[in-house]
Amino acid sequence: MILKAGALALSLFALASTAFAQEYTIRLSHGDNETNPTHITALAFAERVAEYTGGRVEVKIFPANQLGSEEEVIRAVRNNTIQAQIPAMANVHPVAPSVGVLLLPYLFKNSEEAHAGLDAVLAPMNDRITQEGGIRFLGILEKGFRVLTNSVRPVETLEDLQGLKIRVSPNEIVINTFKSWGLDPIPMGWGEVFTALQQGVIDGQENPYTTAQTSKFYEIQKYITEIHYMVWTGPLLISEQFYQSLPTDLQEAVSRAGQEAVVVGRAANAVQTEEAMVFLKEQGMVLSGAPKDEEKWIEAARGIWPSLYASVGGEEWVLSATTLMSEAAK
Ligand code: MLT
Repeated sequence: MILKAGALALSLFALASTAFAQEYTIRLSHGDNETNPTHITALAFAERVAEYTGGRVEVKIFPANQLGSEEEVIRAVRNNTIQAQIPAMANVHPVAPSVGVLLLPYLFKNSEEAHAGLDAVLAPMNDRITQEGGIRFLGILEKGFRVLTNSVRPVETLEDLQGLKIRVSPNEIVINTFKSWGLDPIPMGWGEVFTALQQGVIDGQENPYTTAQTSKFYEIQKYITEIHYMVWTGPLLISEQFYQSLPTDLQEAVSRAGQEAVVVGRAANAVQTEEAMVFLKEQGMVLSGAPKDEEKWIEAARGIWPSLYASVGGEEWVLSATTLMSEAAK
């Protein structure tokens, strides 16, 4: 009798272990250091996926471009060689044109407006990019405005910008925005930026305050200008092929984990941005705020919107997405 009860307990234990055994692995790549809000988002996602799936799905995180550049990884995500990624939006645009609407210069006025807009546009965006690129956004991280850093001079006007060697993401919208300001920017992959700054191949770059701190740009850059032209957005994205291979309950768990993780990352970024500004000043950087002639920057960059419609999914999509986002932000 005692033996039978023992055997029953053992087989029940075996059944329970089978039910909670890990069945799927998500390899998640991103290009930032482990102190960056991007990594905090990845950790929050991994924890929640484990919890909400009862351990059936495991997330393994690979920071600092360990699996390849953002441009390479997104192609691997499309064919499910890598399952998930948190890249900058500019690096998603080449495989899913409709995301380009989020790169239009001077789209958002602040982070709060961006959060409302990004959450509102998620579903219609997914309808398009699952088709265009074989990828799905679980949520969209936001890290504040991209700010311009350089090692040559304070940039307080458009005139100060002229002649500087500024690195930008290899993205046509970003390149054309800088061209609208009279500059010939230098497109370059993210992984090469620190060394290029160090060696003087470029004078400056533009990314959020938190990146200037976590990537140690204060060691090689002196001046910061809040050019306000683009809020850094980066999706927590997943391979659509992988997502469709999951049973519905796991799809829901993974989606919920992703939506919550970006909220954690946004909050961490808000706190870290304040800290980064203090820290960067302490390191001797000169923060000169917005350009004195910001209206000129805005006018020039907003002027190129119509020329970009064709490469961001068409005018109709731009109008519907921007209307949806501005309504949500009210
Ligand atoms: C870039 O400038 O290429 C990106 O913003 C870097 C990043 O992914 O943080």
